[in-house]
Amino acid sequence: MRKPFIAGNWKMNTDALGGAALAKGIAAATKGIAGESVDVAFFPPFVYLQSVVAAVSSSLIGIGGQDIYFEQKGAFTGEISAAMLKDVGCAYALCGHSERRHVIGESDELINKKVLASISGGLLPVLCVGELIEERKAEKTNEVVERQIRKGLKDVSAEKMEAVTIAYEPVWAIGTGLTATPEQAQEVHVFIRGILAKMYDKNLANSVRIQYGGSANAGNAAVLMSQKDIDGLLVGGASLKVDDFVAMIKAAAV
Ligand code: 13P
Repeated sequence: MRKPFIAGNWKMNTDALGGAALAKGIAAATKGIAGESVDVAFFPPFVYLQSVVAAVSSSLIGIGGQDIYFEQKGAFTGEISAAMLKDVGCAYALCGHSERRHVIGESDELINKKVLASISGGLLPVLCVGELIEERKAEKTNEVVERQIRKGLKDVSAEKMEAVTIAYEPVWAIGTGLTATPEQAQEVHVFIRGILAKMYDKNLANSVRIQYGGSANAGNAAVLMSQKDIDGLLVGGASLKVDDFVAMIKAAAV
């Protein structure tokens, strides 16, 4: 019912040649799977978007920006609009990745504007949420995630929710090798679905895809994906290796 969705967030990694080779390698090894039984997306650095789009042009893999700015155009030095992402062949935009929230300092309000701009610009936003380790220890996970979801989706109508993917990425699990247990992840995914049911309705909540992210790798992909409410993975480090990422896509296909 919810098609698995495996995405690679390359973060500030790769170079022009390496990025294109990585994209080509994954596309070649997942022919007949990527875009068919499993949706697959890459989020390369902005400067490599065009070369990666070209590298996967004969596949059904989607490409997205790691970030987006909410204004349409003008004097916003360094920023990239939805129209620009569309123009170079993007289908997706990450909104509110934890590194944007906690390293760059983005607020829920700014992230909400990015989600709205993505949708109105014809892109599919992936809204990232997740708690810090101190918040988990203080048993504030649900409170934090609920705030991020409610504020991030403010003014997103039920009809527009069709465009949205949620990524639950506990910050303490990102790049640390400390993956959330499948049960810990499943518990928060169910909680997120409950919030969506309250904000919209149960059917809509059941139709939204929720990815898990945080030290997902070829070894734990299958068990994470076997959880009922985990519909996909948002992968950092392991998405930079052809064999690992291909194995994760294949794990989601079964
Ligand atoms: P890692 O898979 O490297 O932990 O990164 C997860 C992530 O932040 C994906 O957006």
